[in-house]
Amino acid sequence: MVNVKNKQTIAGFIPTMGALHQGHISLVNAAKAQCDLTVCSIFVNPTQFNDLSDLKNYPRTFDADCQLLDAAQCDVVFIPEVSEIYTFKELELKKLNFEDKSWTESKTVDFGSLVKVMEGAHRPGHFNGVAQVVSKLFRITEPDKAYFGQKDFQQLAVIRSMVNQLAMPIEIIACPIIREPNGLAMSSRNERLTKEERDKASLISKTLYKVKELQTIKTIAELKAFAEDQIKAEPLINLEYFEISDAETLQPITDYKQAKSVVACIAIKLGSVRLIDNVILY
Ligand code: PAJ
Repeated sequence: MVNVKNKQTIAGFIPTMGALHQGHISLVNAAKAQCDLTVCSIFVNPTQFNDLSDLKNYPRTFDADCQLLDAAQCDVVFIPEVSEIYTFKELELKKLNFEDKSWTESKTVDFGSLVKVMEGAHRPGHFNGVAQVVSKLFRITEPDKAYFGQKDFQQLAVIRSMVNQLAMPIEIIACPIIREPNGLAMSSRNERLTKEERDKASLISKTLYKVKELQTIKTIAELKAFAEDQIKAEPLINLEYFEISDAETLQPITDYKQAKSVVACIAIKLGSVRLIDNVILY
């Protein structure tokens, strides 16, 4: 990007792992609306997978991805090889120690309690891998603005924290969740669901929206019990967690008074496919 951008150009960057859908394209559209130059990366980042079969099965559809990006008039597509992003030592370190913090060269970043909950608790080392690759992609593409989906609510908080801690001059822009007609949040992993599973998966967002509706008449404990009962009533879906949390710190709350803004987050497994979703309560 350094070569194609001059000082006045506002560059917008959308990091992705490919298998693109309209959720990703909504980020491209947001960047197109605000920037002079839009750059999208496609990189299935090995260091953020804590499950090797998930990494192997992650859909790779580069040709179709490029067609979608072309139709959306994305200016630049960056598809690096693993060896262009990581040294052999970095990949070895990942294998040996998920909590390795040496990835930002001499500087270290500490996400503290932000990564001790939800995705961080269930996927050890995941956010370290995400921050590692995003920091590298930011250094390569040097964007002014970077676009992330609220679908990955905790990821957004981690990226904001990284950018703050490293004082990177990049504005992080959050974009709303794009959903299938049945309410299921769009995800590259939806491709691995059968038709029946896709139908069942609509229960996730239905439950979240019901929780949002019930917040005025139920306590947090009652909302949690309600959501857990709804999900557990569907035998095909295994609930990993349902949390009601402070939308800034992501720490679970027990009383509405504990936070200015509150988010309900869920992770489930449908067969071998793991899905996450969330809704901002207020
Ligand atoms: P990936 O899952 O490909 O998602 C890329 C971006 O698209 C993320 O910011 C994600 O939140 C957003 N996104 C995905 N589904 C969406 C939807 N239904 N609506 C709106 N936005 C959506 O997230 C990653 O890749 C990786 O962790 C990455 C940041 C690229 C680092 O490897």
